[in-house]
Amino acid sequence: MEIFKINGQQKLSGEVTLHGAKNSALPILCASILIKGQSIIHNCPDLSDVRATLKILEDLGCTVTRQGDTVTIDATDITASQIDESVMRTMRSSILFLGSLISRTGCASIYLPGGCDIGTRPVDMHIKALKSLGATITENGSSITCCADRLTGAKIILPFASVGATENIIIASAISKGKTTIINPAREPEICDLAEFLNKCGARIYGAGETTIEIEGVERLYPCEHRIIPDRILASTYMSACAATGSQIVIKDVRPTHLSPVFPVFNEMGCRLYLGHNELKVEAPKRLRRVKMIKTMPYPAFPTDSQSPVTAALSVARGTSVIKENIFENRFRFAAQLNRFGADIDINEQMAVINGVKTLHGADVYATDLRGGAALVIAGLVAQGETTIHSIEHIDRGYEKFEDNLKRLGADIKRMKDEKIAKEKDTEKGQQTVVQ
Ligand code: UD1
Repeated sequence: MEIFKINGQQKLSGEVTLHGAKNSALPILCASILIKGQSIIHNCPDLSDVRATLKILEDLGCTVTRQGDTVTIDATDITASQIDESVMRTMRSSILFLGSLISRTGCASIYLPGGCDIGTRPVDMHIKALKSLGATITENGSSITCCADRLTGAKIILPFASVGATENIIIASAISKGKTTIINPAREPEICDLAEFLNKCGARIYGAGETTIEIEGVERLYPCEHRIIPDRILASTYMSACAATGSQIVIKDVRPTHLSPVFPVFNEMGCRLYLGHNELKVEAPKRLRRVKMIKTMPYPAFPTDSQSPVTAALSVARGTSVIKENIFENRFRFAAQLNRFGADIDINEQMAVINGVKTLHGADVYATDLRGGAALVIAGLVAQGETTIHSIEHIDRGYEKFEDNLKRLGADIKRMKDEKIAKEKDTEKGQQTVVQ
């Protein structure tokens, strides 16, 4: 177990380059088993969630190699159609193997997925959609078995624009008989990236990013090379860190259109944003202004994943801001930890009322989830004195070399062994010895 130690109140400056998007890499890697041959994926971030996905691919029989940020998956021989329960439980996106495995092997057996504890996160839309495509599903407690000789196109109306369900349908129906139409699909940039990857491999997916997606099933897909889009959530995290600390930074390799839902919020906070060629300069005022109301919604509205870092920034803004979380019901769990820094945030169901305070003080806190963990890092950068953040394995799921990049921007942050947990473990061991 590791921790971050942060000495706050350092201004950030300089340049930082975004790594590839976690939420693009995961579905694309899951989809790679549709292809007999080598998929070469560039700009693939080295994150614990990506490593877990690569491990699943290896367990299924793929040959996986990584050189720098390029990952090569050879899925010529798939030897299994079941995924190990322990890996499955660490990551919700492993549900996407359902669509790809059933398409490739005719049968898939998986356990219900895990991931960040930010709500109940059911998978009913995934299951219903796969049934519409002709799969027979057997649920057995915590595991699901899904079989079909060949999936057949169908019209699927999603009651909510679920990112994962849209991806599962796209992946499952890429190789299928007939045409699949998705009404009300998710429109996130990561959906477009997945469709672009599969289309390069020979799929016929039309309308990704729009309100209806059509997929004309093909007989087979062919190997291709693809570059993952830059991580827009990482961009909004750096923007929040810059805003909270009253700094100026340049973020490289940004896709401005992907960030258009967050720009108005940073403008309202008083930040100046300058767009260059694939780069964004952020200039924060000495003290941020409050934002009247932010509502998280599916793309192209404000992303739920950017909510936590922005909450951290608003905790030191002048005035009271309100955020309504509409996607995940538990996504304000980190706010209690932010209040330990002296922030003044009231949570009422899925609404946060953030009364901006002048400054924060160092604290000893626990990351509750991935983006909530990033919010605590931002609070630590702002705070006067020393901050310790435990359970940073949550942060490692989505931020590659986070502390190194922040250090390069001028932050005083280091990764250390968690002595507290190590001591507790030693004590436990000692007690066990006595009992024996
Ligand atoms: C993806 C992202 C996650 C992001 C989220 C919303 C990945 C790996 N993760 O998660 O970072 O926060 O989109 O932008 O890409 N739901 C159901 N039934 C279902 C599926 C979803 O009720 O079958 C609900 C969920 O509980 C949640 C909402 O729909 O309340 C949105 O979920 P979804 O869009 O599916 O998110 P994920 O794909 O899990």
